[in-house]
Amino acid sequence: MIELQGVSKSYQVGEMTIPVLKNIHLSVKEGEYVSIMGPSGSGKSTLMNILGCLDRPTEGVYRLNGKDVSQEDEVGLAALRNQTIGFIFQQFQLLPRMNAQKNVELPLIYRGFSKKEREKNAQEALQRVGLEDRRHHRPNELSGGQQQRVAIARAIVTEPLILLADEPTGNLDSVASKNILDLFDELHQEGRTIVMITHDAEVAARADRQIVLRDGEIVEYPFSSKERGGRQA
Ligand SMILES: Nc1ncnc2c1ncn2[C@@H]1O[C@H](COP(=O)(O)OP(=O)(O)OP(=O)(O)O)[C@@H](O)[C@H]1O
Ligand SMILES: [Mg+2]
Repeated sequence: MIELQGVSKSYQVGEMTIPVLKNIHLSVKEGEYVSIMGPSGSGKSTLMNILGCLDRPTEGVYRLNGKDVSQEDEVGLAALRNQTIGFIFQQFQLLPRMNAQKNVELPLIYRGFSKKEREKNAQEALQRVGLEDRRHHRPNELSGGQQQRVAIARAIVTEPLILLADEPTGNLDSVASKNILDLFDELHQEGRTIVMITHDAEVAARADRQIVLRDGEIVEYPFSSKERGGRQA
């Protein structure tokens, strides 16, 4: 489903080249639930942006569903993203002028859903994150944790094959956090692939496999329980 081979990413800042990801090899199978941990600045969000086709590697190959992403133009990438990926940004990225309901409907507009279908699906997604009563609030009329849950609703409303979540519980208290992690378990049981960044080891432990990134390199890369099971069989 997700396959990175020798992926590096560096940024050019003035005269300086800053290496952020170094020779990353990572594969995530369909239906797997993987967490990524690592210190601040270790490259987690950069990696997630590449996985979500929001940024391209400087070197190496990224295959998503067997497709070499580097061969796709912007239009192709946007389509691939909309059809396969639900992305929860670390900074939410909600549109400030639109209320919660409209923000959640947005990806469905790109998919060509009718107004009625959009409204129904967006309401259901908001209900799943426990925010049906805040539908008409704009982002600046919501708390940080509520905005985060709107961002989660927007990511799941398309029923994506792959859910990429950058610190999805970072702004939530323990009750809201548990509810979101239970929702992720449900999505996982439905067969969706989940990659989740978190600082919290307890949150990370909910995934099948915990990957650790340090200074742009994967320093811990355990096999999944499925792979282990496969070997013994
Ligand atoms: N557009 C950019 N230009 C230059 N440097 C960048 C850019 N984006 C990220 N970086 C650098 O890349 C490194 C990794 O950033 P990244 O956002 O991936 O870290 P992170 O692991 O997600 O950290 P955090 O846990 O704080 O969210 C940082 O040192 C950052 O300064
Ligand atoms: Mg980050």
